[in-house]
Amino acid sequence: MAEQRLLFVCLGNICRSPAAEGVFLHLIAQAGLEDRFVVDSAGTGGWHVGNPADRRMRAAAERRGIHLPSRARQIELADFSSFDRILTMDDDNLQAVRALAAELGSRPGLALVEPMTSHCRRFGDQEVPDPYYGGEQGFEHVLDLLEDACSGLLETLTRD
Ligand code: 4NP
Repeated sequence: MAEQRLLFVCLGNICRSPAAEGVFLHLIAQAGLEDRFVVDSAGTGGWHVGNPADRRMRAAAERRGIHLPSRARQIELADFSSFDRILTMDDDNLQAVRALAAELGSRPGLALVEPMTSHCRRFGDQEVPDPYYGGEQGFEHVLDLLEDACSGLLETLTRD
């Protein structure tokens, strides 16, 4: 089966989308499916470009045995051709990514854009909330949602 290319997107690319990338990488490593996927993350904003993931997010992930290797970057138009799916964390991210996609028009072969929570099986949340200004519990909830959504996504992508 052809390699699948996934890009996770949030606002700053230091909390939610690097966590989504790390959780998905963790799941495919456990399943021995690393060679079936290209996985990356990006932010709609550029304030944190070059930075590692937020230390609170990294610490919460490490407690679950999940490493977050990413350095922040900003999403760019080329990403719509380089990736098959772009998974957004909240409604603002979704609108921002759709606005960028509109600049490219409706060409064939561009990435499918969809909310990350559309792959949740256990949680009914519509968004992965921004944990940046909140407490410890916010990071745990982000990881709970992302573990659910990433396993649902992996199941969908490996079903056939
Ligand atoms: P993220 O969280 O979008 O999950 O990476 C944020 C990180 C930084 C900021 C906002 C959200 N910020 O405003 O700097």
